[in-house]
Amino acid sequence: MAKTLNPHATPAPQAAPDSTGGNPPRRNFLVASLAAMIGTIVGLFPVGAGMLVFLDPILKRKKTGGAETGKPRLRVASIEAIPADGTPVQVPVIADLTDAWMRDPNQPVGAVYLRNVGGKIECLNAICPHAGCFVAYMADRKVFQCPCHTSAFNLAGVRLSAKSPSPRDMDTLEVDPEKLAGGEVWVEYINYYPGKPNKEEKP
Ligand code: FES
Repeated sequence: MAKTLNPHATPAPQAAPDSTGGNPPRRNFLVASLAAMIGTIVGLFPVGAGMLVFLDPILKRKKTGGAETGKPRLRVASIEAIPADGTPVQVPVIADLTDAWMRDPNQPVGAVYLRNVGGKIECLNAICPHAGCFVAYMADRKVFQCPCHTSAFNLAGVRLSAKSPSPRDMDTLEVDPEKLAGGEVWVEYINYYPGKPNKEEKP
C-alpha cells in the first residue's frame, strides 16, 4: 500500500553542512597538528628567554674578558720594596676572584718575583713552567730553583741546564711603565700552561 505524506509531520533533523569539504578525518588531523606545532613554538619562547637571562653573566664575561684588554693589570708592590742591588723579591698577587655570579675580593692568586736591574723593574711569574710548583729563590747561590723536580734558573729566569725538566724559561710578565713613573709596580698578570715549550696563555 502506498504511503501518504502527512503535511503536519515535523521534518526529520538534517546533518549540518560539512566544513571539511568531504574529507573530514584527514583535514581535522592536519588542523590539530598545526595547532599543536604553533602551541609548542609559542611555549618555547618564554623558556628561551629565561635561559638567556640565566646565562647572561656567563655570556657577558665571555664577550668582555677580564679587564679592557682581557689581561688585567694588578698592583703588586711599591717601587721602594724592591732592593736596588738586583736581589729578587717575591710578592703575592692579589686580585678579586669573580665568576659568573659571585665576587670574592682581595684573594691571593699567585706570586711574582720583582727585580731592579739597573733601574729597570723586571717581573717573573713565580710558577714553574714545568708542572706549576712555586719556584724558590736560593739567595746563597743566587738562582731560582723549583723544589718539585729541581728545575733551576738564573736571575733573569733562564734555565741553567738544557736538561732541565722545565720545557721553557720562567715566564716574564709586563710591568706597566706609567705606574712605575708614579712609584708603583703594576704587572700584567698572566698564567701560562705548564709543560709546554712556548708560552700559551690560560683563559
Ligand atoms: S714543577 Fe718545577 S721542576 Fe717540576
